[in-house]
Amino acid sequence: MNSSRNDFDAVEVIVAKRDGHRLSDEQIDWVIDAYTRGAVAEEQMSALTMAILLNGMDRAEIARWTAAMIASGERMSFSHLSRPTSDKHSTGGVGDKITLPLAPLVAVFDVAVPQLSGRGLGHTGGTLDKLESIPGWRAALSNDEMMRQLEDVGAVICQAGSGLAPADRKLYALRDVTGTVEAIPLIASSIMSKKIAEGTGSLVLDVKVGSGAFMKDIDRATELARTMVELGTDAGVHTVALLTDMEVPLGLTAGNALEVRESVEVLAGGGPADVVELTIALAREMLDAAGRPDADPAAALADGRAMDRWRAMIEAQGGDADADLPVARETEQVLAEADGVLTTLDAYAVGVAAWRLGAGRARKEDPVQAGAGVEIHARPGDAVRKGQPLLTLHTDTPERFERARQALAGGVVVGTAADVTDRPLVIDRIGA
Ligand code: URA
Repeated sequence: MNSSRNDFDAVEVIVAKRDGHRLSDEQIDWVIDAYTRGAVAEEQMSALTMAILLNGMDRAEIARWTAAMIASGERMSFSHLSRPTSDKHSTGGVGDKITLPLAPLVAVFDVAVPQLSGRGLGHTGGTLDKLESIPGWRAALSNDEMMRQLEDVGAVICQAGSGLAPADRKLYALRDVTGTVEAIPLIASSIMSKKIAEGTGSLVLDVKVGSGAFMKDIDRATELARTMVELGTDAGVHTVALLTDMEVPLGLTAGNALEVRESVEVLAGGGPADVVELTIALAREMLDAAGRPDADPAAALADGRAMDRWRAMIEAQGGDADADLPVARETEQVLAEADGVLTTLDAYAVGVAAWRLGAGRARKEDPVQAGAGVEIHARPGDAVRKGQPLLTLHTDTPERFERARQALAGGVVVGTAADVTDRPLVIDRIGA
């Protein structure tokens, strides 16, 4: 990018967006490049991101902003692989362990799945933190190791290299501390710049809606999904989005080793019905997008092919697929306070409880406890008796129980059957 030709004043760009104008291509290219180089100050970019949050961006501006973030780093390509590639991205939820069974499941059908993942921050867990509870498993792979594993095994879940969209890394850290994470243009460009730079042939987005998600309401989730599908499609990536419920945690566990255990149950043909349903729904979309519309992912879960692929994937990264997973030193139960029906199991409350128990981190550099988290024994709609365990809290540090219980206050409610809201897991589908 030739920044000397268009050396804008950062203040001029901020004022334009503050006053509700659209930014020109040249302004966008310059501001992203100059910010990545350190020539636009953090306080200037923070004012600009706030102006974007308040005044928005149109489709062409978002596309240009995304392209500028892609241009800030390297672009990968999987075009030399012998099979098509398909990737999945979730906007993040509580108990969302779907990547773990999904990647090996899709690989069974000769589709390569490059899952470049991250660690958790805040109340949503990170895929790498979960897999790191498997003894020996290694998240950091070189590009060559990743490509070799995609050829040999067909699936890889690893840490995204620092060369992909470095502008996003800097910008995301800034948004995190300036109240500007929630801007749809910024979320969409952040996610899609990394996915487009990664070079996947097709992409399925799982856009979560509900208390445990970024997007609390369906209208905003739909707008985010549409924006990302348009960005992917315009960049030549076959992109589809499912809008899925995140009012209630996914499955019966939230926490690193606890979620690995549940994922292995799904790969063994069992596991909670919602985790199985979403794994299969996303697998079908990925297989369709990769040109395998006749594949039957449910059969591959039932007959052990997905489990074989999982073992190969874990072992290729040094993990011991047969090792016992870490277990927290201490547990406490949360009991039903009355007879009735469980009406509320709030995803955000459970996510914060798991985080406070040690499953998540408050700062990037904090360690996580592999065994910590929340095990769920009843789901909304289940009849419960007074004194019956509803949740088990797991931690190595029992002084955390009290704060976890505070997080759950009001989030676990026993009432009557009439108060139960039936909600579909897959709410909508956006894309061709
Ligand atoms: N995930 C990302 O990668 N970026 C965002 O802005 C939000 C979620």
